[in-house]
Amino acid sequence: MVGIRTPLTAIIGSASAVLDEKVSANKETREQLAQDIVDSSLRLNQVVENLLDMSRLNSGALRLKKEWVDLEDVLSGLPGKLGRLVARHKLSVVNYLGSCYAQIDEKLFEHVLLNLLSNAVRYAPEGTEITLRLEMENRRILLRILDQGPGIPQDNLKNIFEAFYRVPGSATGGVGLGLAIVKALIEAHGGRVYAQNRKDRSGAEFVVELPYESPPADLEDGR
Ligand SMILES: Nc1ncnc2c1ncn2[C@@H]1O[C@H](COP(=O)(O)OP(=O)(O)OP(=O)(O)O)[C@@H](O)[C@H]1O
Ligand SMILES: [Mg+2]
Repeated sequence: MVGIRTPLTAIIGSASAVLDEKVSANKETREQLAQDIVDSSLRLNQVVENLLDMSRLNSGALRLKKEWVDLEDVLSGLPGKLGRLVARHKLSVVNYLGSCYAQIDEKLFEHVLLNLLSNAVRYAPEGTEITLRLEMENRRILLRILDQGPGIPQDNLKNIFEAFYRVPGSATGGVGLGLAIVKALIEAHGGRVYAQNRKDRSGAEFVVELPYESPPADLEDGR
């Protein structure tokens, strides 16, 4: 599968180059190679996580471990978790809700965020802003991920959540599984996810909706 082979080949190539004294004598070259290894490893890690999620989803072995989780904590912990993934973009997190509890499987919810954010990183130019916005509408929690890339051609919007579908001409290296997993995971949480193009400027906007339920009183009091 090309999604695994490409980053693996890059890791092997860059690591071999680091071991070549002639190549790695230059500090800048060495740092660039190390950076390439980190980037490709992160990429490979995500493809593997996606393949595992997909096979668990298909076999029915995926069980959600839902707990009351404060989305404010999830969002504030994100930059640390993402590390270098968004290093070449500006990530701006806007939380209109403050503390907001939802019953989610935190680890799988993070897979959702990681897939949406890594798409934004891959398909929007370096240096542009990626915005994550948490808000509430009609007793639904909305999490929006907005980027400043080219957006998605109108005709393809309905297909992008299908497994292995990629918009023709998209940046190479993707498998086409990320959004299919995002959709399955969010629906398993009783929510829904959809994509549209931004109205205020060029860019894609992904909206994750979760039903709002009032958390047990002791949770909110305990803060
Ligand atoms: N933020 C975005 N901007 C523009 N196009 C996007 C964006 N997110 C997704 N797409 C399009 O939707 C397609 C499907 O996305 P999806 O995440 O499922 O697969 P992928 O990114 O190609 O591969 P992977 O399985 O590694 O995630 C992409 O190939 C791309 O064409
Ligand atoms: Mg993707």
